[in-house]
Amino acid sequence: MISRKPVDPTGLQQAFPYPRSGSGATTDLGRIIRAEISESGPLSFAEYMARCLYHPEMGYYARAESTTVSKNGDFVTSVSVGPVFGTLLARRLHRFWQSNGSPTSFPLLEPGAHDGSLALDILAAAETLDPTFARSLRYHISEPLPARRTLLENRLRDRATVVASPDEFRAPLGALVANEVLDALPVPLFLSTPEGWQEVFVTHGPDRLEWDLRPADPGLPDNLPDGYLAEGTPDFEAFLTPFARAFDRALHLWIDYGLDAEGLLHPARTVGTLRCYRNHRSNAHPLDHPGEQDLTADVNFSAFESAARKLGFEVHPALNQGRYLTHCGRSWLLEQPSPREIAQFQTLIHPTQFGNRFHALELTQGAGERAFP
Ligand SMILES: C[S@@+](CC[C@H](N)C(=O)[O-])C[C@H]1O[C@@H](n2cnc3c(N)ncnc32)[C@H](O)[C@@H]1O
Repeated sequence: MISRKPVDPTGLQQAFPYPRSGSGATTDLGRIIRAEISESGPLSFAEYMARCLYHPEMGYYARAESTTVSKNGDFVTSVSVGPVFGTLLARRLHRFWQSNGSPTSFPLLEPGAHDGSLALDILAAAETLDPTFARSLRYHISEPLPARRTLLENRLRDRATVVASPDEFRAPLGALVANEVLDALPVPLFLSTPEGWQEVFVTHGPDRLEWDLRPADPGLPDNLPDGYLAEGTPDFEAFLTPFARAFDRALHLWIDYGLDAEGLLHPARTVGTLRCYRNHRSNAHPLDHPGEQDLTADVNFSAFESAARKLGFEVHPALNQGRYLTHCGRSWLLEQPSPREIAQFQTLIHPTQFGNRFHALELTQGAGERAFP
Protein backbone atom coordinates (compact mmCIF):
# COMPACT_ATOMS: atom_id res chain seq x y z
CA MET A 1 0.00 0.00 0.00
CA ILE A 2 1.33 3.41 -0.97
CA SER A 3 0.49 6.06 1.62
CA ARG A 4 2.45 8.71 3.41
CA LYS A 5 0.48 8.67 6.67
CA PRO A 6 -2.95 7.55 7.87
CA VAL A 7 -5.64 9.81 6.45
CA ASP A 8 -7.94 11.51 8.94
CA PRO A 9 -11.24 10.55 7.32
CA THR A 10 -13.32 13.37 8.87
CA GLY A 11 -14.63 15.50 6.05
CA LEU A 12 -14.11 12.86 3.38
CA GLN A 13 -16.36 10.49 5.33
CA GLN A 14 -18.94 13.22 5.86
CA ALA A 15 -18.91 14.00 2.15
CA PHE A 16 -19.07 10.35 1.03
CA PRO A 17 -20.76 8.37 3.83
CA TYR A 18 -21.63 5.45 1.55
CA PRO A 19 -20.72 1.83 2.25
CA ARG A 20 -17.77 0.80 0.09
CA SER A 21 -18.50 -1.97 -2.40
CA GLY A 22 -15.17 -3.71 -1.85
CA SER A 23 -14.92 -4.15 -5.61
CA GLY A 24 -13.59 -0.66 -6.20
CA ALA A 25 -10.37 -1.77 -7.79
CA THR A 26 -11.82 -4.70 -9.67
CA THR A 27 -13.19 -3.00 -12.77
CA ASP A 28 -10.74 -3.26 -15.66
CA LEU A 29 -10.04 0.44 -15.35
CA GLY A 30 -9.59 0.02 -11.58
CA ARG A 31 -6.84 -2.54 -12.26
CA ILE A 32 -5.12 -0.15 -14.65
CA ILE A 33 -5.29 2.68 -12.11
CA ARG A 34 -3.96 0.42 -9.40
CA ALA A 35 -0.99 -0.61 -11.55
CA GLU A 36 -0.27 3.03 -12.37
CA ILE A 37 -0.30 3.98 -8.68
CA SER A 38 2.01 1.04 -7.83
CA GLU A 39 4.45 2.25 -10.45
CA SER A 40 4.32 6.03 -10.13
CA GLY A 41 2.63 6.83 -6.82
CA PRO A 42 -0.78 8.20 -5.84
CA LEU A 43 -2.85 10.15 -8.36
CA SER A 44 -4.33 13.54 -7.53
CA PHE A 45 -8.12 13.34 -7.45
CA ALA A 46 -8.28 15.38 -10.69
CA GLU A 47 -5.97 12.85 -12.40
CA TYR A 48 -8.10 9.99 -11.06
CA MET A 49 -11.33 11.67 -12.26
CA ALA A 50 -9.79 12.28 -15.70
CA ARG A 51 -9.02 8.56 -16.04
CA CYS A 52 -12.48 7.53 -14.76
CA LEU A 53 -14.30 9.74 -17.26
CA TYR A 54 -11.92 9.95 -20.22
CA HIS A 55 -9.75 6.83 -20.43
CA PRO A 56 -9.98 6.33 -24.24
CA GLU A 57 -11.44 2.80 -23.98
CA MET A 58 -12.67 2.32 -20.41
CA GLY A 59 -13.59 5.83 -19.29
CA TYR A 60 -17.21 6.46 -18.40
CA TYR A 61 -17.78 8.71 -21.42
CA ALA A 62 -15.89 6.37 -23.75
CA ARG A 63 -18.56 3.70 -23.30
CA ALA A 64 -19.94 3.06 -26.75
CA GLU A 65 -23.55 2.69 -25.60
CA SER A 66 -25.53 5.90 -25.67
CA THR A 67 -27.68 5.24 -22.64
CA THR A 68 -25.57 6.64 -19.79
CA VAL A 69 -27.39 9.98 -20.17
CA SER A 70 -31.05 9.01 -20.57
CA LYS A 71 -34.19 8.06 -18.70
CA ASN A 72 -32.96 4.43 -18.74
CA GLY A 73 -29.36 5.28 -17.93
CA ASP A 74 -27.49 6.83 -15.01
CA PHE A 75 -28.86 10.37 -15.10
CA VAL A 76 -31.03 12.68 -17.17
CA THR A 77 -30.22 16.10 -18.60
CA SER A 78 -32.45 18.84 -20.00
CA VAL A 79 -31.91 17.18 -23.38
CA SER A 80 -33.33 13.86 -22.22
CA VAL A 81 -36.46 15.63 -20.89
CA GLY A 82 -37.50 15.89 -24.58
CA PRO A 83 -37.09 18.04 -27.69
CA VAL A 84 -38.45 21.27 -26.14
CA PHE A 85 -35.02 22.23 -24.75
CA GLY A 86 -33.59 22.16 -28.29
CA THR A 87 -36.67 24.00 -29.60
CA LEU A 88 -36.11 26.89 -27.17
CA LEU A 89 -32.37 27.10 -27.83
CA ALA A 90 -33.12 27.11 -31.59
CA ARG A 91 -35.33 30.18 -31.00
CA ARG A 92 -32.45 31.90 -29.23
CA LEU A 93 -29.99 31.07 -32.00
CA HIS A 94 -32.48 32.20 -34.65
CA ARG A 95 -32.67 35.69 -33.09
CA PHE A 96 -28.89 35.95 -33.02
CA TRP A 97 -28.71 34.78 -36.67
CA GLN A 98 -31.35 37.32 -37.76
CA SER A 99 -29.71 40.19 -35.88
CA ASN A 100 -26.40 39.44 -37.56
CA GLY A 101 -27.75 39.71 -41.09
CA SER A 102 -29.29 36.21 -41.60
CA PRO A 103 -26.09 34.85 -43.22
CA THR A 104 -26.50 31.99 -45.73
CA SER A 105 -23.95 29.95 -43.78
CA PHE A 106 -24.20 29.88 -40.00
CA PRO A 107 -21.89 27.41 -38.20
CA LEU A 108 -22.94 26.01 -34.85
CA LEU A 109 -20.38 24.27 -32.65
CA GLU A 110 -21.48 21.92 -29.88
CA PRO A 111 -18.83 20.50 -27.53
CA GLY A 112 -19.73 17.33 -25.64
CA ALA A 113 -22.84 16.47 -27.64
CA HIS A 114 -22.96 13.03 -26.00
CA ASP A 115 -25.35 11.05 -28.27
CA GLY A 116 -26.29 13.93 -30.61
CA SER A 117 -29.87 14.36 -29.38
CA LEU A 118 -29.58 18.12 -28.82
CA ALA A 119 -28.15 18.56 -32.32
CA LEU A 120 -31.09 16.69 -33.85
CA ASP A 121 -33.59 18.65 -31.74
CA ILE A 122 -32.09 22.02 -32.71
CA LEU A 123 -31.95 21.10 -36.41
CA ALA A 124 -35.55 19.85 -36.40
CA ALA A 125 -36.79 22.94 -34.54
CA ALA A 126 -34.94 25.24 -36.97
CA GLU A 127 -36.67 23.54 -39.91
CA THR A 128 -40.10 24.13 -38.37
CA LEU A 129 -39.30 27.71 -37.35
CA ASP A 130 -37.63 29.06 -40.49
CA PRO A 131 -36.41 26.84 -43.36
CA THR A 132 -33.99 29.58 -44.53
CA PHE A 133 -32.39 29.56 -41.08
CA ALA A 134 -32.32 25.74 -41.14
CA ARG A 135 -30.57 25.75 -44.53
CA SER A 136 -27.92 28.12 -43.20
CA LEU A 137 -27.00 25.90 -40.25
CA ARG A 138 -23.70 24.02 -40.41
CA TYR A 139 -23.68 21.85 -37.29
CA HIS A 140 -20.29 20.82 -35.89
CA ILE A 141 -19.66 18.71 -32.83
CA SER A 142 -16.36 18.57 -31.01
CA GLU A 143 -15.82 15.42 -28.99
CA PRO A 144 -12.41 14.28 -27.70
CA LEU A 145 -13.27 10.58 -27.21
CA PRO A 146 -12.89 8.41 -30.33
CA ALA A 147 -15.63 5.91 -29.35
CA ARG A 148 -18.11 8.72 -28.84
CA ARG A 149 -17.14 10.34 -32.12
CA THR A 150 -17.92 7.09 -33.92
CA LEU A 151 -21.30 6.89 -32.21
CA LEU A 152 -22.08 10.51 -33.13
CA GLU A 153 -20.96 10.06 -36.75
CA ASN A 154 -23.20 6.99 -37.11
CA ARG A 155 -26.21 8.71 -35.59
CA LEU A 156 -25.90 12.12 -37.26
CA ARG A 157 -24.48 11.03 -40.65
CA ASP A 158 -24.81 14.03 -42.99
CA ARG A 159 -26.56 16.26 -40.41
CA ALA A 160 -23.37 17.27 -38.56
CA THR A 161 -19.60 17.18 -38.84
CA VAL A 162 -17.83 15.60 -35.89
CA VAL A 163 -14.32 16.83 -35.01
CA ALA A 164 -11.89 15.70 -32.31
CA SER A 165 -10.98 19.20 -31.22
CA PRO A 166 -12.23 22.77 -31.75
CA ASP A 167 -8.80 23.44 -33.30
CA GLU A 168 -10.17 21.70 -36.41
CA PHE A 169 -12.92 24.31 -36.71
CA ARG A 170 -12.78 27.97 -37.78
CA ALA A 171 -15.52 30.45 -38.79
CA PRO A 172 -15.94 34.22 -38.97
CA LEU A 173 -19.43 34.20 -37.37
CA GLY A 174 -21.45 31.56 -35.54
CA ALA A 175 -22.56 30.19 -32.21
CA LEU A 176 -21.57 27.60 -29.62
CA VAL A 177 -24.02 25.59 -27.51
CA ALA A 178 -22.85 23.47 -24.59
CA ASN A 179 -25.10 21.70 -22.13
CA GLU A 180 -23.57 19.98 -19.08
CA VAL A 181 -20.01 19.93 -20.36
CA LEU A 182 -18.32 22.08 -17.70
CA ASP A 183 -19.55 19.86 -14.84
CA ALA A 184 -17.78 16.92 -16.49
CA LEU A 185 -14.31 18.50 -16.38
CA PRO A 186 -11.96 16.91 -13.81
CA VAL A 187 -11.57 18.91 -10.58
CA PRO A 188 -8.98 18.78 -7.78
CA LEU A 189 -10.33 18.16 -4.27
CA PHE A 190 -9.09 19.93 -1.14
CA LEU A 191 -9.72 19.15 2.52
CA SER A 192 -9.31 21.61 5.39
CA THR A 193 -7.55 19.92 8.35
CA PRO A 194 -6.08 21.16 11.66
CA GLU A 195 -2.68 21.05 9.87
CA GLY A 196 -3.96 23.27 7.06
CA TRP A 197 -5.28 22.55 3.55
CA GLN A 198 -4.51 19.15 2.04
CA GLU A 199 -5.02 18.07 -1.55
CA VAL A 200 -6.92 14.79 -1.85
CA PHE A 201 -5.05 12.01 -3.68
CA VAL A 202 -6.01 8.44 -4.57
CA THR A 203 -3.85 5.49 -3.60
CA HIS A 204 -4.61 1.78 -3.21
CA GLY A 205 -5.02 -0.59 -0.32
CA PRO A 206 -4.87 -4.41 -0.49
CA ASP A 207 -8.15 -4.75 -2.38
CA ARG A 208 -9.51 -1.32 -3.17
CA LEU A 209 -8.67 2.31 -3.84
CA GLU A 210 -8.23 4.58 -0.81
CA TRP A 211 -7.81 8.28 -0.06
CA ASP A 212 -4.46 9.93 0.52
CA LEU A 213 -3.66 13.54 1.43
CA ARG A 214 -0.82 15.95 0.68
CA PRO A 215 -0.24 19.49 2.01
CA ALA A 216 -1.50 22.10 -0.44
CA ASP A 217 -2.04 25.81 -0.83
CA PRO A 218 -5.22 26.02 -2.92
CA GLY A 219 -5.90 29.71 -2.25
CA LEU A 220 -9.34 28.97 -0.79
CA PRO A 221 -11.03 31.35 1.71
CA ASP A 222 -9.56 31.09 5.24
CA ASN A 223 -12.95 31.16 7.03
CA LEU A 224 -13.75 27.53 6.23
CA PRO A 225 -13.94 25.06 9.15
CA ASP A 226 -11.80 21.93 9.68
CA GLY A 227 -13.24 18.97 7.78
CA TYR A 228 -14.47 21.26 4.97
CA LEU A 229 -14.20 19.60 1.56
CA ALA A 230 -14.03 21.80 -1.53
CA GLU A 231 -13.43 21.27 -5.20
CA GLY A 232 -10.86 23.42 -6.93
CA THR A 233 -11.69 24.66 -10.41
CA PRO A 234 -10.61 23.03 -13.64
CA ASP A 235 -8.23 25.07 -15.79
CA PHE A 236 -11.11 26.87 -17.51
CA GLU A 237 -8.80 29.20 -19.42
CA ALA A 238 -6.98 26.30 -21.08
CA PHE A 239 -10.29 24.56 -21.77
CA LEU A 240 -11.96 27.66 -23.27
CA THR A 241 -8.99 28.90 -25.34
CA PRO A 242 -9.59 26.70 -28.43
CA PHE A 243 -13.32 27.51 -28.35
CA ALA A 244 -12.43 31.23 -28.21
CA ARG A 245 -10.26 30.79 -31.31
CA ALA A 246 -13.05 29.03 -33.21
CA PHE A 247 -14.93 32.21 -34.18
CA ASP A 248 -14.21 35.90 -34.78
CA ARG A 249 -17.77 36.88 -33.82
CA ALA A 250 -19.96 34.54 -31.82
CA LEU A 251 -22.61 33.88 -29.23
CA HIS A 252 -21.72 31.14 -26.72
CA LEU A 253 -24.41 29.47 -24.57
CA TRP A 254 -22.97 27.53 -21.63
CA ILE A 255 -25.66 25.78 -19.60
CA ASP A 256 -24.90 23.81 -16.47
CA TYR A 257 -25.55 23.37 -12.77
CA GLY A 258 -23.45 25.50 -10.49
CA LEU A 259 -23.15 28.66 -8.45
CA ASP A 260 -20.92 31.67 -8.06
CA ALA A 261 -17.78 31.26 -5.90
CA GLU A 262 -19.42 32.82 -2.85
CA GLY A 263 -22.32 30.37 -2.94
CA LEU A 264 -20.13 27.34 -3.63
CA LEU A 265 -17.58 28.12 -0.93
CA HIS A 266 -20.05 29.14 1.77
CA PRO A 267 -18.79 28.03 5.24
CA ALA A 268 -22.01 26.07 5.83
CA ARG A 269 -21.60 23.96 2.70
CA THR A 270 -19.03 21.61 4.21
CA VAL A 271 -19.15 18.59 1.92
CA GLY A 272 -18.48 20.07 -1.51
CA THR A 273 -20.51 19.18 -4.58
CA LEU A 274 -18.67 16.20 -6.08
CA ARG A 275 -21.17 13.39 -6.79
CA CYS A 276 -21.24 10.02 -8.51
CA TYR A 277 -24.20 8.95 -10.60
CA ARG A 278 -25.11 5.37 -11.28
CA ASN A 279 -28.62 4.21 -12.20
CA HIS A 280 -30.12 7.59 -11.21
CA ARG A 281 -28.69 7.36 -7.70
CA SER A 282 -25.98 9.58 -6.33
CA ASN A 283 -25.15 7.48 -3.28
CA ALA A 284 -22.05 5.76 -4.64
CA HIS A 285 -18.51 6.19 -3.38
CA PRO A 286 -16.18 8.02 -5.82
CA LEU A 287 -13.45 5.39 -5.41
CA ASP A 288 -15.74 2.48 -6.29
CA HIS A 289 -16.52 1.25 -9.83
CA PRO A 290 -13.97 3.45 -11.65
CA GLY A 291 -15.16 4.02 -15.20
CA GLU A 292 -18.63 2.66 -14.50
CA GLN A 293 -20.20 5.68 -12.84
CA ASP A 294 -20.34 9.37 -13.62
CA LEU A 295 -18.31 11.81 -11.53
CA THR A 296 -19.42 15.42 -11.61
CA ALA A 297 -19.06 18.68 -9.67
CA ASP A 298 -21.01 21.94 -9.69
CA VAL A 299 -19.54 24.62 -11.92
CA ASN A 300 -17.88 27.60 -10.26
CA PHE A 301 -19.40 30.19 -12.59
CA SER A 302 -17.29 33.03 -11.14
CA ALA A 303 -14.10 31.18 -12.15
CA PHE A 304 -15.48 30.33 -15.60
CA GLU A 305 -16.59 33.93 -16.18
CA SER A 306 -13.21 35.27 -15.14
CA ALA A 307 -11.46 32.89 -17.60
CA ALA A 308 -13.86 34.06 -20.33
CA ARG A 309 -13.11 37.74 -19.60
CA LYS A 310 -9.36 37.06 -19.77
CA LEU A 311 -9.88 35.58 -23.23
CA GLY A 312 -11.68 38.70 -24.40
CA PHE A 313 -15.31 37.58 -24.18
CA GLU A 314 -18.06 39.88 -23.06
CA VAL A 315 -19.77 38.08 -20.16
CA HIS A 316 -23.51 38.58 -19.70
CA PRO A 317 -25.26 37.91 -16.39
CA ALA A 318 -25.99 34.19 -15.90
CA LEU A 319 -29.71 33.48 -15.49
CA ASN A 320 -31.22 30.45 -13.89
CA GLN A 321 -32.55 28.06 -16.51
CA GLY A 322 -36.17 28.79 -15.61
CA ARG A 323 -35.81 32.48 -16.42
CA TYR A 324 -33.53 31.93 -19.37
CA LEU A 325 -35.77 29.43 -21.18
CA THR A 326 -38.84 31.54 -20.44
CA HIS A 327 -37.14 34.47 -22.20
CA CYS A 328 -36.10 32.27 -25.12
CA GLY A 329 -39.57 30.74 -25.38
CA ARG A 330 -41.73 33.85 -25.35
CA SER A 331 -42.80 33.60 -29.00
CA TRP A 332 -43.06 29.80 -28.78
CA LEU A 333 -45.41 30.00 -25.78
CA LEU A 334 -47.78 32.19 -27.82
CA GLU A 335 -47.98 29.53 -30.54
CA GLN A 336 -50.01 27.11 -28.39
CA PRO A 337 -47.55 24.28 -27.75
CA SER A 338 -49.07 20.83 -27.20
CA PRO A 339 -49.81 19.58 -23.65
CA ARG A 340 -46.82 17.23 -24.00
CA GLU A 341 -44.54 20.14 -24.91
CA ILE A 342 -45.91 22.24 -22.06
CA ALA A 343 -45.16 19.39 -19.65
CA GLN A 344 -41.53 19.31 -20.87
CA PHE A 345 -41.30 23.10 -20.57
CA GLN A 346 -42.56 22.91 -16.98
CA THR A 347 -39.93 20.31 -16.08
CA LEU A 348 -37.21 22.46 -17.62
CA ILE A 349 -38.21 25.63 -15.76
CA HIS A 350 -39.63 24.31 -12.47
CA PRO A 351 -37.51 25.46 -9.49
CA THR A 352 -37.39 21.97 -7.95
CA GLN A 353 -36.45 20.29 -11.25
CA PHE A 354 -34.16 21.93 -13.84
CA GLY A 355 -35.23 25.57 -13.35
CA ASN A 356 -33.18 26.77 -10.41
CA ARG A 357 -30.03 24.70 -10.06
CA PHE A 358 -29.12 25.08 -13.71
CA HIS A 359 -27.85 28.36 -15.10
CA ALA A 360 -27.39 29.66 -18.62
CA LEU A 361 -24.42 31.89 -19.26
CA GLU A 362 -24.13 33.82 -22.51
CA LEU A 363 -20.75 35.01 -23.74
CA THR A 364 -20.25 37.12 -26.84
CA GLN A 365 -17.11 37.90 -28.79
CA GLY A 366 -16.34 40.25 -31.65
CA ALA A 367 -18.72 42.99 -32.68
CA GLY A 368 -21.79 40.80 -33.21
CA GLU A 369 -25.29 41.86 -32.21
CA ARG A 370 -26.32 39.85 -29.12
CA ALA A 371 -30.10 40.30 -29.52
CA PHE A 372 -31.15 38.80 -26.22
CA PRO A 373 -34.90 38.14 -26.35
C1 LIG B 1 -22.42 15.15 -19.35
S1 LIG B 1 -21.90 14.84 -20.96
C2 LIG B 1 -22.79 16.00 -21.92
C3 LIG B 1 -24.27 15.78 -21.94
C4 LIG B 1 -24.94 16.30 -23.17
N1 LIG B 1 -24.42 17.59 -23.63
C5 LIG B 1 -26.43 16.42 -22.88
O1 LIG B 1 -26.88 17.55 -22.67
O2 LIG B 1 -27.09 15.40 -22.84
C6 LIG B 1 -20.30 15.54 -21.04
C7 LIG B 1 -19.66 15.38 -22.43
O3 LIG B 1 -18.61 16.34 -22.54
C8 LIG B 1 -17.59 15.76 -23.31
N2 LIG B 1 -16.34 16.53 -23.14
C9 LIG B 1 -15.49 16.53 -22.13
N3 LIG B 1 -14.43 17.36 -22.34
C10 LIG B 1 -14.65 17.91 -23.54
C11 LIG B 1 -13.94 18.85 -24.35
N4 LIG B 1 -12.78 19.38 -23.95
N5 LIG B 1 -14.46 19.19 -25.54
C12 LIG B 1 -15.63 18.67 -25.96
N6 LIG B 1 -16.36 17.77 -25.25
C13 LIG B 1 -15.87 17.40 -24.06
C14 LIG B 1 -17.54 14.33 -22.79
O4 LIG B 1 -16.85 13.43 -23.62
C15 LIG B 1 -19.04 14.02 -22.66
O5 LIG B 1 -19.54 13.47 -23.87
